[in-house]
Amino acid sequence: MPKVHNAPAALPIKLELRRWVLQEISPAHVFDAYCGPGEMWRGAWKDAASYVGCDECEWSVATPFSRFVGDTVAVMRAVRLEDYNVFDIDAFGCPFGAAMELARRKWRRQEMCAVVFTDGSSLKTRFGQLPAAQLELGGVPMRGKGNVKQRHQWMVRAWAKRSGLDVLRLRLAEGNGSGRGNQAMVYSAAIVRGAA
Ligand SMILES: C[S@@+](CC[C@H](N)C(=O)[O-])C[C@H]1O[C@@H](n2cnc3c(N)ncnc32)[C@H](O)[C@@H]1O
Repeated sequence: MPKVHNAPAALPIKLELRRWVLQEISPAHVFDAYCGPGEMWRGAWKDAASYVGCDECEWSVATPFSRFVGDTVAVMRAVRLEDYNVFDIDAFGCPFGAAMELARRKWRRQEMCAVVFTDGSSLKTRFGQLPAAQLELGGVPMRGKGNVKQRHQWMVRAWAKRSGLDVLRLRLAEGNGSGRGNQAMVYSAAIVRGAA
């Protein structure tokens, strides 16, 4: 069965968040950490000042944009993260493992950046498994179906604090991963600034 990267209902929400980021951050230099076959590039990031994708699969010689082929965390450890000011973290599951890699990036005082998250960790947390990043951030064990948005906001703010960033704006949307209603997803974009 072919891999599904985007439920039809999720696609407009995800693209809208990315287009909003392009309005907020200009020029935008995008690191698309889990780029897949490039739907976010086609629908939004192709209009950024610069772009590079990364994915361990989905590679083809016909890919029309620059990209790394490999494990995202390994690639993030190898590149100069300061070359990018927009990070798109759209893995299957929890995005905060890769977000913790961003802690390595040096944020200049008052430097504006954006991070776009797709958070599909609700199924695990519903059954009591906390992602490693949440434990590392000292996370209260928020569980249950009803609080996926609150948990996500808590994670974004805790991650920003750990990274020495102020969250200036945070836009959130909720959906479900398969389009069949079994996994709550949170889509968000945070505009952050290096703390003064
Ligand atoms: C939800 S899809 C997102 C694709 C893309 N952002 C989109 O909207 O079309 C997640 C992608 O992450 C990739 N992926 C999963 N684990 C990875 C890893 N450890 N390193 C790099 N890519 C990974 C998968 O191959 C898949 O293409």
